Amino acid sequence: MPINVLPGGLPLLGHAVDLLRRPLDFVERLRDAGPVVRFNLGPKPVYVVTTPAMCKELLITKSQCFDKGGPLFKQSKTLLGNGLVGCDREQARRARPMMNPAFHHGRLARYTEVMTQVSAEIAEQWVDGSTVDFDALMNVATMDALTRCLFSGVKDTDTAAEVRAVMQVIVNGVGRRAFIPISWVHKLPLPPKLREDAALRELHRVVDNVIAEYRRTGADHGDLMSMMILAQDDAGNGMTDTQLHDEVRSMMVAGTETSATMMLWMAYALHEHPDVRDRMHEELDLVLAGRRLDYEDLPKLEYTGRVVQEALRMYPVAWLLSRYCVSDTELAGVRIPAGADVMFSPYAEHMDPRNFDNPRSFDPDRWLPERARAMHRQAFLPFGSGVRKCIGESFAFTEMMIMVATFLGPWNLTPVHPDPEPLASTTYRPRHSHMVLSRRSLPTDERPPA
Ligand code: HEM
Repeated sequence: MPINVLPGGLPLLGHAVDLLRRPLDFVERLRDAGPVVRFNLGPKPVYVVTTPAMCKELLITKSQCFDKGGPLFKQSKTLLGNGLVGCDREQARRARPMMNPAFHHGRLARYTEVMTQVSAEIAEQWVDGSTVDFDALMNVATMDALTRCLFSGVKDTDTAAEVRAVMQVIVNGVGRRAFIPISWVHKLPLPPKLREDAALRELHRVVDNVIAEYRRTGADHGDLMSMMILAQDDAGNGMTDTQLHDEVRSMMVAGTETSATMMLWMAYALHEHPDVRDRMHEELDLVLAGRRLDYEDLPKLEYTGRVVQEALRMYPVAWLLSRYCVSDTELAGVRIPAGADVMFSPYAEHMDPRNFDNPRSFDPDRWLPERARAMHRQAFLPFGSGVRKCIGESFAFTEMMIMVATFLGPWNLTPVHPDPEPLASTTYRPRHSHMVLSRRSLPTDERPPA
């Protein structure tokens, strides 16, 4: 079958300029051009699948023909190392079952306690009327929560703090690399590179000590690290120390900035939709009555859950994802040759009127069970789909619920820049992040009025 090729494009550069200049428009144009579309990134053709049915073929039905890869992925590979996020399917086939138990629902109650504690410690510092960099704060919160969920068995707080500090340097490096996509630049012994190398050495040293200590005692501390150390593959082999290092690093990269950015989007969404915010506050006040959230509260917060779900639809941080084709195949009758790069855009899917009524309106009630039933499952892809779907989905959802209840329940946040000015590069995020805090009075507010 002949393929739809996107018109336009420049010699040598192809459609790269369009993609860089107006990325969100570009992926929507691709979507409207057909179920499988081709465009050129530089001299290289890239195939894009644009419908839920085609995403299902790519990620589930024909997933054996595709592996992690493609243009976006290559930029972050060096930082992700060989952990689950960045490894190929052969490695993932062994690693994923070993990692799954650490993210099992049964473990979430324990993680909830940690996340609630971390969030409360940060919120206690907030001052009514002050202006904060909400993105920076949420990055500290998610980094802190994940570090403590990983190493709750480490009694000395210095170790957790050290991991957090070095991870900050490493995660910052991801952004730097993404914005300067010229690989040799990152090899120059410039201060950022030297700092990053030192941070990586430090991470190895600290994680080595933790691993040695956990292995020595053999105890299950109920944290992510214990689960990974205790995990075995079918042949009864555990993870090597190098694998454990890689998993810690890739999890930190995949599981901190993503949730933090979602919190920033939610602050903007609630400011723009005071009706939604008021209804959510009503629910939080009723269920929590000003106290901290427990694991058992989560299912009672139905509307808040729908707000988080709707934010994941409107603002998918992983807005564009890629694969490469490992063996010749067909999608919608179009031949995809081995070696080709293939992309799909959760953003374009989420904004498609064929998938969602009034896709640009922020409507948490579209997630009411009776309305959500009609939705194609592959039309909603904030966490990807298939064998490489985000392993941290429940962890992240729980974390966002807790952080919404802690930061966006008792406080109204007013953006300093009312227009978020969305940016779409490695992630989809607002350009601005400063917010003015104003304290709400809560049902059983024991604190003195601010
Ligand atoms: C709102 C927060 C998050 C979002 C939007 C998100 C999104 C995603 C997406 C879209 C993928 C699939 C990428 C692809 O198909 O190429 C993914 C994979 C992954 N994520 Fe998340 N993620 C989030 C939070 C987390 C957290 C908290 C963790 C860990 C604690 C985590 C760990 C991972 C891992 C390990 C993978 C790789 C899974 C595999 O390849 O088998 N993520 N994430």
